[in-house]
Amino acid sequence: MTDVVFSDAATTAKPVEILIAPQNVLRQVARPVRPEDIAGIRLILPGMFAAMYAAPGIGLAAPQVGISQRFALVDLGEAEAREPMIMINPEILEESESLSTREEGCLSLPNQYAEVTRPEKIRLRWTTVDGNVMEREADGLLATCIQHEIDHLDGILFVDHLSTLRRNMILRRLAKEQKFRRG
Ligand code: NI
Repeated sequence: MTDVVFSDAATTAKPVEILIAPQNVLRQVARPVRPEDIAGIRLILPGMFAAMYAAPGIGLAAPQVGISQRFALVDLGEAEAREPMIMINPEILEESESLSTREEGCLSLPNQYAEVTRPEKIRLRWTTVDGNVMEREADGLLATCIQHEIDHLDGILFVDHLSTLRRNMILRRLAKEQKFRRG
């Protein structure tokens, strides 16, 4: 499977920079990937995997590295047993009525965590780097992670699922921490 080719290449690739909120690109609806975009996507994937693994994180969407196109990575595997998945133009076809609540974080909102409630199971359609259209079901952490990444493609951050009060509290705390880091 080609996805492994890109995650393996992460060991020698230079990690791309992950953007920290607030950034306009994180709030934009990304455009669909077109066939002519694939060559460029192949070039950036190893650097995106490198950045995600270094963080470490389990998902990374293109807008988080400044690319407003509909693709994202997830990998719930361990360092010794990677399970990379590259989703191009992903779509949720069905979602369960049953919900699950899980603590989420985001590489674009470092050190901020909150419980988010989402559908427990989803049915997903996406296109692979080789242009194959795939479908599968996902539940548990994978379902949460995929929904979080697809949100990024629509300019949505996990804090948008919280109350305004809670969201503003987290965003203020992040801004303060980032200001402190910059000195
Ligand atoms: Ni995120």
